Amino acid sequence: MRIVTHISELRHLIRQTKAQSQTIGFVPTMGALHAGHLSLIQEAKDKSDRVIASIFVNPEQFGPGEDYDRYPRQAEKDAEMLRAAGTDILFLPAKEEIYPQPPRVKVLPGPVANVLCGKTRPGHFSGVGLVVAKLLNLVSPDFLFLGQKDLQQTVIIRQLIEDLNFPVELVVCPTIREADGLAMSSRNRYLTPEERQTALILNHTLQHLKTLAQPGATVQSLLEEGHQYFKNAPGLQTDYLEIVNGTTLETLEVILPEENPVIAIAGFVGKTRLIDNTFVF
Ligand code: PAF
Repeated sequence: MRIVTHISELRHLIRQTKAQSQTIGFVPTMGALHAGHLSLIQEAKDKSDRVIASIFVNPEQFGPGEDYDRYPRQAEKDAEMLRAAGTDILFLPAKEEIYPQPPRVKVLPGPVANVLCGKTRPGHFSGVGLVVAKLLNLVSPDFLFLGQKDLQQTVIIRQLIEDLNFPVELVVCPTIREADGLAMSSRNRYLTPEERQTALILNHTLQHLKTLAQPGATVQSLLEEGHQYFKNAPGLQTDYLEIVNGTTLETLEVILPEENPVIAIAGFVGKTRLIDNTFVF
């Protein structure tokens, strides 16, 4: 695996790869890797000739008071995991390489960025859109791999790709879970053992509501049931529980398969913000 820190070297390697007519699968990450990331690498390997991963903790997508400074950084360990998983190139730029000056151009996603996580994290998806647009320009992959746990991110990046005509196919991969159902996340490592126990309520609530979400069920009744269910976990401070169209993120009133409904949840356990979701059908 080649570790590349400079854009010029990355571009050189990409040119070589393209000259050999090899397809590129790209897995962007912020590091602190876990089995969820490695499943994206595996999907990329299955679908493309060469696999490129990036590790960059993107300051533009963290709001004031969020965890940018304490976000776990463990480049050596991550590089070892990526190497073992069969990654060909790791792009590991310094902040100054990506942002030699404060960005003058912004990426402003559409209204889908203002719902769900966007309500409590204003500017977050604009920062994600900016860095993903830059990375797509630098890597020019054939396939981009993102995890379904970040549902809203996948919807926004799909719109970015379509609206700005990036010649890349987005592949959304299933959420990888711990044995007890907790969705894997780099932020899980912030949790104390007790908080980790509390965090299980997120997936338990999703699974409970999924069994009740039969076609024709009203969303309001399901959400009321969900909020009752949370009372089992007083350590959770809910940010949102919503049932939305999985393609447009518009809120739904009734469960209908043709609306591709998804149950999405976010909350704080202690100081750690966690998200999860599940498609109903
Ligand atoms: O999902 C993430 O880890 C980040 O939002 C991404 C896509 C790498 C952009 O910084």
